[in-house]
Amino acid sequence: MSDDVRAPVRDDATGRPRSGGAAPGPVESQTEEALLALTGEQQSSGPLLEVRDLITHFTLGSGTVRAVDGVSFSLSRGKTLGVVGESGSGKTVLSRSVMGILTASNVVRRGQVIYDGRDLSRLTPKELRPYWGREMAMVFQDPMTSLNPVVKIGRQLTEGLTQSLKMSRSEAKELAVAGLRSVGIPSPERRFNEYPHQLSGGMRQRVGIAIALAMGPKLLFADEPTTALDVTVQAQILDLLEEQQRERFMGMVLVTHDLGVVATRADEIIVMYAGQVVEKAPTAKLFASVRMPYTEALLESIPKLHEPSHTRLRAIGGRPPDLMHPPSACRFSPRCPYVRDKCRTDPPPLIEDTPGHSYRCWFPVDVRVTAPTRAGQATGASSGASTGASTGAVKA
Ligand SMILES: Nc1ncnc2c1ncn2[C@@H]1O[C@H](COP(=O)(O)OP(=O)(O)OP(=O)(O)O)[C@@H](O)[C@H]1O
Ligand code: SF4
Ligand SMILES: [Mg+2]
Repeated sequence: MSDDVRAPVRDDATGRPRSGGAAPGPVESQTEEALLALTGEQQSSGPLLEVRDLITHFTLGSGTVRAVDGVSFSLSRGKTLGVVGESGSGKTVLSRSVMGILTASNVVRRGQVIYDGRDLSRLTPKELRPYWGREMAMVFQDPMTSLNPVVKIGRQLTEGLTQSLKMSRSEAKELAVAGLRSVGIPSPERRFNEYPHQLSGGMRQRVGIAIALAMGPKLLFADEPTTALDVTVQAQILDLLEEQQRERFMGMVLVTHDLGVVATRADEIIVMYAGQVVEKAPTAKLFASVRMPYTEALLESIPKLHEPSHTRLRAIGGRPPDLMHPPSACRFSPRCPYVRDKCRTDPPPLIEDTPGHSYRCWFPVDVRVTAPTRAGQATGASSGASTGASTGAVKA
């Protein structure tokens, strides 16, 4: 984007541009220390986000839905964590629970959320409010439902700026138009005065990203940001998110059901199944040796570039468990092709096999995935993000 005018990153307290204001240059060319110096911020030396044993249950008349059941991970500034799993595995509840936006009275939440050295777990929604938008923000799955259809785009963009950052209307408009331009929206001044339905799906998602980025958050949750979009637009939106994340040196949690999407975009991946983390590793390490049968099954459900275009994908047999009554031992056991008696009686713990690589399985596989690429997006492979991978499985 040659004519890119990026939304200046604002100081939390004053609303003024931070020193270094507009985003610094690409991460590749600069050290993390240099970037921190450029932004001139006071930051804790630890990870940006640390989630410890997070539990999020919903109490219903008929029982308790254990949507998130003891999840731990950490995320550093400037890094991307991929959260992968089938529908219903708890990805959205995890993201919302970390942000503290699940406020209904039937939500039971335990564990710790340490953000930038501060424990947010005990804060009330009112106390958390200053963090939303400014510190952490979310790009929602479906911009058609997350954007208000009867409110003009401009107002949706400037609301937080005028209310939370106390900017004047003209200042907020200036920043919002720059924000729209920075996410690749043509004629941003005109779009500012339009309603969401006047934009295409891809443009709406760009608006969703602009809104999430408007107050310069340090942590971005992108919850299936491309599901409703066609393949070419999916790749554009993912590229845009990655570009913004790097330039702003944000931590990003990229949620998806598609391992192919995170294969080339995440620094670390957690695979979720039935509310639990079942495998966790830095991306390269995971693809060098997938250990969890569920991750293997997810891989097999992705289109491969080397296979003929009409190759039938292998769906994962069976259905995800009812989270009110999950299987008592290994939660994947009813669907696992490698199941043995022990799997049905003893719950496998999440064990760290090699430094940084953990999995939850008594009888792990050893699957190597060769050179994931983004070629699938460029050639329009059906997922929009094929790994282009080939696998070689060895049952340990
Ligand atoms: N407010 C709620 N009350 C009760 N159960 C809920 C609530 N929200 C989510 N759940 C349940 O929690 C589980 C996890 O849901 P979640 O939306 O996090 O899944 P997901 O991995 O994001 O799936 P998808 O890929 O379809 O978005 C599901 O069983 C869901 O039905
Ligand atoms: S513990 Fe057993 S059932 Fe569970 S994933 Fe491993 S092999 Fe499969
Ligand atoms: Mg979801």
